[in-house]
Amino acid sequence: MLHPVICIDGPAASGKSTVARLVAHDLNFVYVDTGAMYRAFTFLTLEAGHDPTSRARIKQLLEKVDFHADIRDGEIALCEGKRDLTPHIRLPEINAAVSHVSTLPELREYLVNLQRKLRLIAPLVMEGRDIGTVVCSDSPFKYFIDACPTVRAERRRKQGQEDNLAARDKIDSSRSAAPLVRAADATLLDSGKHDARALADRIITEVRSRLQPGPSLP
Ligand code: DC
Repeated sequence: MLHPVICIDGPAASGKSTVARLVAHDLNFVYVDTGAMYRAFTFLTLEAGHDPTSRARIKQLLEKVDFHADIRDGEIALCEGKRDLTPHIRLPEINAAVSHVSTLPELREYLVNLQRKLRLIAPLVMEGRDIGTVVCSDSPFKYFIDACPTVRAERRRKQGQEDNLAARDKIDSSRSAAPLVRAADATLLDSGKHDARALADRIITEVRSRLQPGPSLP
C-alpha cells in the first residue's frame, strides 16, 4: 500500500523546509528532505576527488556506494555504510556544487526510485524541486512555496550561509531533467507574505479535511 504524501516544492531558501517540518510534526508524518539526498551525493563526489560535472565519475560512484535513507525520529537519516552524512552536507562547497551534481539523469533516477519507495513505509511530507511534478505526481496534496529573491537572500544571510541563490535558481530551473517548475495543480504559497506557522496551518487544515482520521492522522 502506498501511504499519502504531501509534496512541497520551491526554490532554495524559500522557507519550504521550515513549513514541511511543521506539517510533518503536527500530522505525525515522516519529513523527507530530498535536497539533502542530492547534497549527500555531492559530498561523496567531492570527497572522492571527482569533478562534480563528470557524469562518468558519478555513475561509477553510484555503482559502488552503500547509500541508505533510514527513518529515524520522524526524519530521514542519510548514511553511507555506517557513516552519518548529515554533518557534511551544508558546507559552502556543497552549496556551490550541488546544482551541477543534481543535473545528472542517472543520479536523479537512482534518488527518485529511493524517494518513491519511502511511500511504502509511512505517510510523508516530502520537500524538493520535483516532488509534485515527477516523484509523486499522483499525490492530491501539492504546494509550491516561493518568496522574492531579496527575502530569500536575507534568509540565507541570517542563517550565516554562503549560497549563490541566483546561480542555483538558474541551474535548477533550466536543466533538462526534472527542472524546478510549479506543478499545474500545486497551490502557490508566498513565504514572504505569510510566516511558516500560518502556511503550515493552512496545509494541515486542507490535508485533514481531505484524509480520513486514522492512526497516523491526529
Ligand atoms: O533544497 P536544497 O537547497 O537543499 O537542494 C539542494 C540542491 O539539490 C538544489 O540546488 C537542487 C537539487 N534538488 C533537486 O534537484 N531535486 C530535488 N528534489 C531536491 C533538490
